[in-house]
Amino acid sequence: MGGMMPAALSAVILAAGQGTRMKSVLPKVLHPVAGVPMLAHVITAARAAGSTPLIAVIGHGAERVKAAFDGAGVDFVLQAEQLGTGHALQCSAPALAGFAGDLLLLCGDVPLLRGATLQALVEHHRSQQAVVTVLTAEVADPRGYGRVIRGAGGVERIVEEKDATPAERTVCEINTGIYVFTTPRVFELLAGLTNDNAQGEYYLTDVIAAARAAGDKVAALPAERAEEAMGINDRVQLAEAGREMRIRINETHMRAGVTLLDPAVTYIEAEVTIGTDTVIHPGVHLRGRTVIGRECEIEPGVIVSDCILADRVHVKAGSVLAGSTIGADTDIGPMAHLRPGTILAGENKIGNFVETKKAAIGRGSKASHLTYLGDAEIGAGVNVGCGTITCNYDGVNKHVTVIEDDVFVGSDVQFVAPVRIGKGSLIGAGSTITRDVPAEALAISRVEQKVIEGWVTRKRDKAVKRET
Ligand code: UD1
Ligand code: CA
Repeated sequence: MGGMMPAALSAVILAAGQGTRMKSVLPKVLHPVAGVPMLAHVITAARAAGSTPLIAVIGHGAERVKAAFDGAGVDFVLQAEQLGTGHALQCSAPALAGFAGDLLLLCGDVPLLRGATLQALVEHHRSQQAVVTVLTAEVADPRGYGRVIRGAGGVERIVEEKDATPAERTVCEINTGIYVFTTPRVFELLAGLTNDNAQGEYYLTDVIAAARAAGDKVAALPAERAEEAMGINDRVQLAEAGREMRIRINETHMRAGVTLLDPAVTYIEAEVTIGTDTVIHPGVHLRGRTVIGRECEIEPGVIVSDCILADRVHVKAGSVLAGSTIGADTDIGPMAHLRPGTILAGENKIGNFVETKKAAIGRGSKASHLTYLGDAEIGAGVNVGCGTITCNYDGVNKHVTVIEDDVFVGSDVQFVAPVRIGKGSLIGAGSTITRDVPAEALAISRVEQKVIEGWVTRKRDKAVKRET
């Protein structure tokens, strides 16, 4: 006997159901919790428990689910017709042919489950030398869940709510839908299941009674934290799970040295990372693969999606940042809009009502007020005056504006791209620049000012005469 070898552990995640109660065109397991599909949370937990291979049983919206987890190292098995959870596990049998060891059975709609809980369940299964081990939970409101029916010898069976007697419905120990099975034995037990029940389905839960009847050992482990076992069947539960996940994520950041002024209203998605001593104000959303450096300050109402912020970046209230890379010691906002492809080298100032898109901006350059910089390459030490606009779109194509180092752009300038502004040049306020400007030059294009003395007085006198 290979006593020192760690036993093999595979995982099967059931994710073929339609999720009728979600009332959605999106397959249930793709609904996001803290910004990532709920199935991704389950996969993460299964990985943390050390399971390989990882098999997902898919059916409803199979193509969409597959596409969402392309390259995630998951093997997919198709359950073409959803005949029940027992049938779903059966569908994975060919994929597990030749596998002997323990099988962790998870549901794709239980996103709060932690890897540590699964590890404890696997250990319990092994120490009990059980064939079937079920994770149960004590809950205040058991409605909707299968009830765990215990007898003198431990768990005897699980009864679904729709099949339960009134007395059975009062049981508050529920089936989380998470199990460890000894494989291949479980597939022999599954073969004996029938669909003689209220829903006409092959219930995986019936494996417990089948194991008991066959004299196989059945074990049960109550979860330490019942909220982990929450199954998402509708949008109310989706919101609850989102809140629970948010609390968990926020606590992790706070313990790691990030200040959240009001964690109850701070929305940080699962994959975001944040450096120490960063301060996050209320109402902030940090999304996708955002990376925030140390000692940053993110003020109220800021939304950051898929951005990289270096250290000591200060984003002021109401700014929206997406797909941008922000160098250290930069100030942004309030009310700035940084769109994808914005790259700030560092020590920049992007002020209120400034919008950038596909704009690479060199070190120390500033655009402090009311400006649009799109398809722009801007050097270091450039000052972009208030109200400047890169006219990048001619209705058909986008064109690039290049502004070299140390250029001073006066207020209210339009750059009609494509156009290149040479190093150190000066653009006069109110100019419309349509041609390239060489280095160190002054470019100015405005109509010369006219002053007509006494014009207002004369006009007023005329108007008074007409009235009388
Ligand atoms: C199931 C359990 C119930 C448990 C609850 C925990 C059964 C019969 N009931 O009920 O005891 O308390 O989970 O959340 O197992 N699925 C398939 N193919 C199918 C049917 C379902 O892949 O043919 C998948 C679903 O996509 C879902 C999971 O299995 O991810 C559970 O199915 P669901 O219909 O939500 O079962 P519940 O009624 O919640
Ligand atoms: Ca469910």
